[in-house]
Amino acid sequence: MSASSPTPVTGTTGARVLVTGAAGFVGRHVVRALREAGAEVSAVDRSPHPDVPTVVGDLRDASVRERAVVPGLDAVVHLAAITSVLGSVEQPEETTELNVVATAGLLELCRTRGVGALALASTNAVVGDVGAGVITEDLALRPLTPYGATKAAGEMLLSGYAGAFGLRAPVVRLTNVYGPGMRAKDSFVPRLMRAAAEGRGVVVYGDGEQRRDLVHVHDAARALAQAALGWPSGPVIIGGARSWTVNEMVAAAREATGAPIPVEHQPARPGEMPAVVVDIARARSLGYEPTTALADGMATVWPDFRPDGSGAVGGGAGVSGGSSR
Ligand SMILES: NC(=O)c1ccc[n+]([C@@H]2O[C@H](COP(=O)([O-])OP(=O)(O)OC[C@H]3O[C@@H](n4cnc5c(N)ncnc54)[C@H](O)[C@@H]3O)[C@@H](O)[C@H]2O)c1
Repeated sequence: MSASSPTPVTGTTGARVLVTGAAGFVGRHVVRALREAGAEVSAVDRSPHPDVPTVVGDLRDASVRERAVVPGLDAVVHLAAITSVLGSVEQPEETTELNVVATAGLLELCRTRGVGALALASTNAVVGDVGAGVITEDLALRPLTPYGATKAAGEMLLSGYAGAFGLRAPVVRLTNVYGPGMRAKDSFVPRLMRAAAEGRGVVVYGDGEQRRDLVHVHDAARALAQAALGWPSGPVIIGGARSWTVNEMVAAAREATGAPIPVEHQPARPGEMPAVVVDIARARSLGYEPTTALADGMATVWPDFRPDGSGAVGGGAGVSGGSSR
């Protein structure tokens, strides 16, 4: 397995695809994956994408959606969202406006303008706390935060449009995505990288043996591109091939950065999941296979953070180990 270059998606020459949230972390990689597959890509985001025509604006504004979802599109990849649990708890109303109401507006434009498919980026947070159980697509939706709830609501809207109007509406439930271009993020991998760059350590709650699933952004982007271009309606979990303990993640970050990254253990926080373990059998049945091992993947994140800046592209939002263009 190697992260040196993203594996291309094939067989899509000429498809016209709109990517919402295209200028974000996952979006830039999805745009690249679609373009490498021969698709003609457009974007809508609050910030312009550097390489593809972008409708710049707020998707909560109906006129922005109308300018972006034009007749003749074949598919939409819908990534724009309030993407953090914390953000959703601080701004529950805004989260509903973007993650639910704007999603409904995009679906309605797909219906009225003859766009055949909308693929939604969702999350395993839609199922809530499953203890140490394995997460599959068959579990009931029991979200515990506005983020999880609004993604679950979006999934239900897609299901309704698939059932009533024949829209192809795949849902890609991502685990924790990591890879090049995440300098603006605050998840555990960028925290490890920042600690390495600044000669600091990290806090680990509990003994560090809690398991988490990580998926490299090259794998996540390929799955989203494939979903938009051909996968059937319904949820598909996209993760890495296995889960990792927090201690293993720290070890992989030490190896990638050469920094000691000392760990300070603090008492486990109440409510923290003992394990996030997903089953990717359904994704595999659709041809998905993660290609990036954790050690290789960590090495692709480091250039955006390393103090000498070598390897960082485009102010930290770019792509190493392959072109973002
Ligand atoms: N990154 C992960 O680990 C992860 C995990 C599970 C699911 N997801 C989902 O994948 C998608 C992409 O995540 P990401 O990490 O790239 O997020 P990101 O925050 O890096 O990118 C989101 C993009 O959406 C744009 N956007 C936000 N609000 C907007 C608005 N009102 N109008 C127009 N554009 C707007 C932002 O400008 C940004 O470019 C999200 O839907 C997220 O919920 C991500």
